[in-house]
Amino acid sequence: MRALGLVFALALPLTALADGAAVYGKHCVACHQPGAVGAPGLAPPLAGNIGKAAGSDAGKRYLVSVVLHGLSGPIEVDGVRYQSVMKAFGPMLTDDEAADVLGHLLRDIEGVADTGWLTTAYVAGVRSGGGSPGDNHKARGKLPR
Ligand code: HEC
Repeated sequence: MRALGLVFALALPLTALADGAAVYGKHCVACHQPGAVGAPGLAPPLAGNIGKAAGSDAGKRYLVSVVLHGLSGPIEVDGVRYQSVMKAFGPMLTDDEAADVLGHLLRDIEGVADTGWLTTAYVAGVRSGGGSPGDNHKARGKLPR
């Protein structure tokens, strides 16, 4: 019994911490790379890039919508042009997982202090609002730079 108690004590905080990073490792790292540094010709960096969007309401919505509904159309990040497609991950991720992976990127990679807005309910709202890769490209163009 004592051993069982120990397993619980260790497992709970570990899984709670690992979620967002685990989702990233499963669904995102192949393109966006370890540390989210990106790869020219494949996928843009998220590090040093997406933190700014988290500072506006439109940007918050944009980030969640890209993960759920995808993105296509030419974009430029750090002077490098990407003209590719990111498919919608909405069908593969629960609201929880989408919130966790973005929370991980914003907090641990971008150092954004306030990620309290990133709740399951917020993600569910963006999901039910619908969207498309092209819509998200338009929304990106209107974000404060
Ligand atoms: C198959 C490759 C691939 C995978 C896997 C992938 N992405 Fe992307 N992602 C891209 C590409 C390519 C773009 C840019 C699309 C374009 O050129 O319009 C992008 C763009 C983004 C953007 C917008 C960046 C910006 O500057 O506006 C975010 C945020 C993002 N991805 C997050 C994620 C997350 C989170 C995951 C995992 C759930 C993920 N991506 C998985 C290829 C990928």
